Amino acid sequence: MSGQEPVQKLSEEITRLKKERNAIILAHVYQSPEVQNVADYVGDSLGLSQQAASTGADVIVFCGVHFMAESASILCPDKVVLLPEKSAGCPMADMVTAEELRQKKQELPGSVVVCYVNTSAEVKAESDIACTSANAVEVVSSLPEDKTVLFVPDKNLGNYIFSRTGREMLMWEGYCPAHDSLTRADVLKAKAKHPGAPVLVHPECRPEVVKLADLVTSTSGMIRFVRDNKAREFIVCTEAGILYPLQKQCPDKRFYLASDSLFCYDMKVTTLEKVHRALVSLEPRVKVPEEIRERAFHCLERMLDI
Ligand code: 13P
Ligand code: SF4
Repeated sequence: MSGQEPVQKLSEEITRLKKERNAIILAHVYQSPEVQNVADYVGDSLGLSQQAASTGADVIVFCGVHFMAESASILCPDKVVLLPEKSAGCPMADMVTAEELRQKKQELPGSVVVCYVNTSAEVKAESDIACTSANAVEVVSSLPEDKTVLFVPDKNLGNYIFSRTGREMLMWEGYCPAHDSLTRADVLKAKAKHPGAPVLVHPECRPEVVKLADLVTSTSGMIRFVRDNKAREFIVCTEAGILYPLQKQCPDKRFYLASDSLFCYDMKVTTLEKVHRALVSLEPRVKVPEEIRERAFHCLERMLDI
């Protein structure tokens, strides 16, 4: 099928193939609108992991980035996990390698390693427990107080957890290029333009941006808040893709992205054509080798148990 064919025809063909393959399509809220529209579930990293862990489908088509498909493979080793565009990565996840982490652990014997879910399977295999932006505070609060916490790789999320828990933490120096690009000046400008609009901030943003927030939460947390809140206008400080589900769920409200720099290229490389191709060929697959998977599984399982 060529890329010229209309979106509707391609979407119908994807729906037909999905049934034939007993497949489920999981999409992150930063994916393009067409991709979100063919998904069985659209959500944040935590929700996507929970869906992957509980699905009865034989095939999981992961519309997101590589670490997300790896998490599905870790949780469901017997299922076929497809990542329609295999180059879709996460620049922040690439900021820590398993080798670098092993070295750091040797310098800090007895520490507890908490990894953001935005990490490779190898890094998860070296970590004690994972977290997402939705449960990071609970995860760190659950750890024994006499233990030193090493947090990888997002220094901004780490700083946010510290501000909420007071737990001494050693931070890796990683960051999300999209969220870290947002400045205090950008947010102040948006506030001046839209006075009274609550400011919704993702914890991957810098601490000086987090300080200006009315709400700091994951992407799904933002959608829930907007649905339940009386305000008509909101300033949004997370990746641009979230505007689509926000507008879809609350068509009578207005959303202002705090900066055009809130854009993740890797989240946009998955297209309907690639989803279709993946369902036809059952490729490209993501399969975590068993030796790494077993260790990484415990790290994700501990998080999902919280
Ligand atoms: P959440 O959807 O879990 O808030 O994560 C944001 C993100 O940057 C995913 O890559
Ligand atoms: Fe990674 Fe940031 Fe893109 Fe999420 S938005 S995939 S954290 S680079």
